[in-house]
Amino acid sequence: MSKQSENSNSQTEHSEDTKCTACNDTGLIIEKKEQKQPNGKVVLKDLGRPCHCVQKRALKKAFKNSLIPDEFKNARFDNYETNSDAQETLFNAIKEYLKDFPEIIKGESEQNSLGFIAAFGETRIRSLQGEAKYQAKADHNNFGLGKTHLQMAAAKWILNRIRVRDDIEMNVKSNADFLDTKSKFDRGCQVLCVSDITFMDDLTSAKMAGDGGGTFKNLLHNAINVDVLVWDDLGKAKYSESKEGLYYQIINERYLHKRPIIFSSNEDKGTLSEKIGYAASSRLLGMCGDRLYAVEGEDYRMRGGVQL
Ligand SMILES: Nc1ncnc2c1ncn2[C@@H]1O[C@H](COP(=O)(O)OP(=O)(O)OP(=O)(O)O)[C@@H](O)[C@H]1O
Ligand SMILES: [Mg+2]
Ligand SMILES: [Zn+2]
Repeated sequence: MSKQSENSNSQTEHSEDTKCTACNDTGLIIEKKEQKQPNGKVVLKDLGRPCHCVQKRALKKAFKNSLIPDEFKNARFDNYETNSDAQETLFNAIKEYLKDFPEIIKGESEQNSLGFIAAFGETRIRSLQGEAKYQAKADHNNFGLGKTHLQMAAAKWILNRIRVRDDIEMNVKSNADFLDTKSKFDRGCQVLCVSDITFMDDLTSAKMAGDGGGTFKNLLHNAINVDVLVWDDLGKAKYSESKEGLYYQIINERYLHKRPIIFSSNEDKGTLSEKIGYAASSRLLGMCGDRLYAVEGEDYRMRGGVQL
């Protein structure tokens, strides 16, 4: 099975070499339509409209481009258990967020993001010694709560259901009569899932790469401009001044253009600021507003006391 179809659910699964009989793989359906001329005469004209297969192919591509990790291909809402308070909080948070999402994606609201953070950050626990450290670890676990599971389920939900309308008219180079130029460009919502350590490493090495900065600019451009950025383990990468600059650049641009970020972190409000910088974190937390959830509870990986 290809990576694309693994990522998609049954609703969106297609075989790789499906031929479209409706449009013969041209992507366009041509129909005769009556059109009124300026002199009042009605004539029959060939009009083209996009075939349904265009959308299907776009969805497949979007799943591939979203970079949802393979190990979360089965992460869905219907297989997320809600037995503990933390699980219930996370599940309801994402459910409420997605309920509002069709409005959020229109880009009018400043509070458009969602964050799952720790009540007692990883860095804070690490800074403790001996018994205090042991106790804090036991009392304030933020690992294995299913944050990534829900983020990836949300990414898939958005890819499958949300369409956005760009405010530009179709750019038609050919015969103007041929295509319906008035239809605005309607497309699937783009989602990009990044994991903090890998993403920051990729950015850092791309910055050093001898390709004139092309790869670096590309990575940065995608993170800044994609409709929805899903950022897993934010603040996990080792701190550096240069990373602080990158966090700021991405978050500030998304903040200015009102583009949502769905993130999770093992840090708390305070330690997250130390890891990504205050300027970035104040914008990000502002983008979340009430949709910032500090959670702790039992690690799903350790349920029953056995590490799976
Ligand atoms: N409530 C749950 N119901 C079903 N599966 C769960 C639940 N919570 C976690 N899992 C599964 O347990 C594993 C760990 O969960 P996940 O990686 O989402 O946790 P996390 O909160 O992101 O942890 P970390 O902070 O360590 O990254 C995943 O395979 C996930 O699918
Ligand atoms: Mg995780
Ligand atoms: Zn077709």
